[in-house]
Amino acid sequence: MATGYFITGTDTGVGKTVVACALLHAFAARGRRVIGMKPVAAGALRTEHGLLNDDVAALCAASNVTAPPELVNPYCFEAAIAPHLAATQAGTGIELGRIARAYAGLAAVAEVVVVEGAGGFCVPLSSIENGAHLARLLGLPVIMVVGMRLGCLNHALLTAQAIRAHGLVLAGWVANRIDPGMTAADENVAALVERIHAPLLADIAHTPQPQRIALQVQALDLL
Ligand SMILES: Nc1ncnc2c1ncn2[C@@H]1O[C@H](COP(=O)(O)OP(=O)(O)OP(=O)(O)O)[C@@H](O)[C@H]1O
Ligand SMILES: [Mg+2]
Repeated sequence: MATGYFITGTDTGVGKTVVACALLHAFAARGRRVIGMKPVAAGALRTEHGLLNDDVAALCAASNVTAPPELVNPYCFEAAIAPHLAATQAGTGIELGRIARAYAGLAAVAEVVVVEGAGGFCVPLSSIENGAHLARLLGLPVIMVVGMRLGCLNHALLTAQAIRAHGLVLAGWVANRIDPGMTAADENVAALVERIHAPLLADIAHTPQPQRIALQVQALDLL
């Protein structure tokens, strides 16, 4: 059975895809068969080949194993809105069991499966279920991406608390400096190092090519 990681973040747009791809590259560089998964994508272009989502494309490009699209991305919606709203708008609903079966399909063909959540950790997926329930169902260690900007301390600590409250392991976290103008950025990272009791896997500078960053994957105890 594969090792899996669930990538969450303090918000949407904080660098989950960047980190998920870096993780895939890091394990691939160590000779592992790796595949990315985006269970729920909201925001896609309608093309002659169907819906095309940027995160799914990036994860597939960073994978060295292929699998059918319905396993890599069981739910894809055109509207770039909250997943449960996008599903309703598309006349359907998100079923966690279908996602768990897709994950099992990927775990059968790869040694490492990196799952990128939608939005933040508790984003609603239906009227009763949310991203935390999905992470819990998959039972994977969680990696939290903190988008370093004003307000992120509260968001990061709440997210870490929610991960643990759901009985999940916070395997590590990443400080991603998405705001180049952030005041006291180093002190903010230090404040989180003191309070998040999990390894800091990377401190990513604001850079034009964030996809080239390296992660300290040895801290994940996989290798
Ligand atoms: N360290 C960085 N420096 C500069 N730009 C960054 C950095 N990290 C991420 N970005 C950019 O910020 C944007 C959001 O990053 P990304 O798509 O990885 O976020 P996300 O959390 O996956 O978003 P979503 O919730 O939409 O899935 C992207 O355009 C990405 O290239
Ligand atoms: Mg993303």
